[in-house]
Amino acid sequence: MGKFGKDFVWGTATSAYQIEGGYLENGKGPSIWDSFCTIPGKIKNGDTGNVACDHFHRFKDDIKLLKELGVNSYRLSISWSRIMPEGKGAVNEEGVRFYNEIIDELIKNDITPWVTLYHWDLPLALQLEDDGWLGESIIDYFVEYADVCFNRFGDRVKHWITLNEPWVVAILSHGHGVFAPGRVSEVEPYQVAHNLLLAHAKTVNHYKSRYSSQDGKIGITNNCDWRESLTNSQADIEAAQRALEFFLGWFADPVYFGDYPEVMKERIGDKLPRFSEKEKELLKGSSDFFGLNHYTTMNAAHTDSVDENEDVHGNGGISKDQGVSLSVKKDWKLTKMNWAVVPWGCKKLLKWIADRYDNPEIYITENGCAYDDEVVDGQINDSERVEYFRTYLAACEEAISEGVNLKGYFAWSFLDNFEWNSGYSKRFGIYYVDFETLERIPKASAKWFKKFLAEQSS
Ligand code: GAL
Repeated sequence: MGKFGKDFVWGTATSAYQIEGGYLENGKGPSIWDSFCTIPGKIKNGDTGNVACDHFHRFKDDIKLLKELGVNSYRLSISWSRIMPEGKGAVNEEGVRFYNEIIDELIKNDITPWVTLYHWDLPLALQLEDDGWLGESIIDYFVEYADVCFNRFGDRVKHWITLNEPWVVAILSHGHGVFAPGRVSEVEPYQVAHNLLLAHAKTVNHYKSRYSSQDGKIGITNNCDWRESLTNSQADIEAAQRALEFFLGWFADPVYFGDYPEVMKERIGDKLPRFSEKEKELLKGSSDFFGLNHYTTMNAAHTDSVDENEDVHGNGGISKDQGVSLSVKKDWKLTKMNWAVVPWGCKKLLKWIADRYDNPEIYITENGCAYDDEVVDGQINDSERVEYFRTYLAACEEAISEGVNLKGYFAWSFLDNFEWNSGYSKRFGIYYVDFETLERIPKASAKWFKKFLAEQSS
């Protein structure tokens, strides 16, 4: 069985906008992604999530595939504007029914649902009303929406994730402007992050105080790549540490310690909002587990002059606030996203988290890779993806043997899907989706994962 143990959580992950389609069906309101996709030039090939994998109509068959695969868990997200078309107020009963059916179907198949409340598809109405995550009103609207979800689904859903990757919402959506709502700023990311963190903390507090009888767990999922110091110089070692604190510490320090990392306060000054004492209390300890999405590694070096345009990999946040320059080693293999395949980076990151946050329960809520998959004689031989999973899982196993409290792993992704501004041009699934016919075909990686999972339980 190896190091993972019999209670290990094994799953695949998806998100609503990326797979559902049915974008205006049965009373759903528009989200910022529905709207962003209509702007010419924003999404590769002008793709949209209007149909996506059509999971909205095919979820029963999709759950059959999950059952066959042998996972014990599945991570999905709820579309806020399917539940509340205006983002607040009236509840769309058809939307509630849709998620009830999915949840019931999963449970019927012995698959535990892990539900993310927010995976980036903000109701458009809230974006227009008060600039979405930039306005403070969003905090209470999020709690109101979460309350509906706890109330309607919490009798069966026992694993909640408030937010998926708030870093992306801050940096890619309000800094670089490449994700919806497409804002470009060097200040807004910090304000948005602040509101996201407060919305998370207030929601957790609400869940713990009103729904304790449901006896569930609730946490947040953050993303982080590993940052390896480019040289052994003290300056580069400090730069790598600083880069990690600006990436993950930005969101995890408030959740574990009640405040932002000191290095951020020092370097950013007034651009970084402050928490009140009451807010610090609310934030501290506001996650029952450490949700982590991890994909890749970059080298980090100290610099005093960052040229934002040089940051071609785009994973640096606002580099000049950090004084860090990022690069990739020439001999590292790259995936279709240009992300380097560095399994030991995964292990180092897990250990960094264990050290910094007092060995919390960690769940890898996403890990995976995009490759150009082709169907040859009805088969997809994605051997590079198999190798990616095999080596990253081996790194996870090593981390566990060195004391890291890793409790679960979700492969990204179950199906090829709408990869945000890359549209359908990047395939992350272990099941291939033919976007003309919507047929699903298991790739070699799905077959490998199935065998791997069977070995875990034997
Ligand atoms: C994550 C995100 C997913 C998926 C994945 C691959 O950042 O949560 O929705 O797109 O990256 O890029």
